[in-house]
Amino acid sequence: MNQTKIYGHRGAKGRYPENTLLSFQQAILQGVDGIELDVHLSKDGEVVVIHDEFLNRTTDGTGFVRACTLEEIKKFSAGSKFSSLPDYEESWILEKVPTLKEVLQLLAPYPIELNIELKTYTFEYEGIEEKTIALVNEYGNGRKVVYSSFHLPTLLRIKGIDPAASIAWLLNHVISHPLDYIKSLGLESLHLHKDMVIDNLKDWQELKTLVRVWTVNQKEELVQLMDAEVESIITDYPELAIAIRQERAVPID
Ligand code: G3P
Ligand code: MG
Repeated sequence: MNQTKIYGHRGAKGRYPENTLLSFQQAILQGVDGIELDVHLSKDGEVVVIHDEFLNRTTDGTGFVRACTLEEIKKFSAGSKFSSLPDYEESWILEKVPTLKEVLQLLAPYPIELNIELKTYTFEYEGIEEKTIALVNEYGNGRKVVYSSFHLPTLLRIKGIDPAASIAWLLNHVISHPLDYIKSLGLESLHLHKDMVIDNLKDWQELKTLVRVWTVNQKEELVQLMDAEVESIITDYPELAIAIRQERAVPID
């Protein structure tokens, strides 16, 4: 039986402030096989790790990420907005929006995989592909990196810059002949919204090694997808997913 890998979504988003060094560190402590994060470009061209195009939801700043320099972005807290999480501590106020370089440096000692989602479907962020690959080459420590995006041209640009790069198309809608896309475009995998897979588990069986599924948080769905032996699950609760996987590994007398 192939063991499904567990990726922490934006670190361990279910318990810690998403896309912060704290969240990534905690996901690593929980024992993830990989982490997923999202990148945008700041006004001065730095690759920064944040989900939205704007600062408002996840930080105490306002405005578009691309309208602020890194120095300006770093003034804001990326932790203070998460006081409703059960484990909230005042020290979270000190969390900042990390750069991709800072995350790569944090990961350096750990042999885990990394999924970098390039958020290029709203703004194009000219040059983000080159900058991201350069940072991975310099600070990636040779780890497996999967570049994903909803915006297919971004993935094709990445492949053009680095033909050996692993690229994954993010999908939340059905496509016809998925294997044709994989082969024709040189995709390493498809990153599929969970509803696309859970409602059609049989249809994806043949492609199970080429599929990562997001964002899976319910126990029943985690079990279903582990039974289906999909390559990886991306979850806000990696601790839960890992515990379920461990339970299933225990032989029954
Ligand atoms: O990469 C999987 C997932 O993160 C895609 O959606 O909006 O959570 O970045 P989103
Ligand atoms: Mg993402």
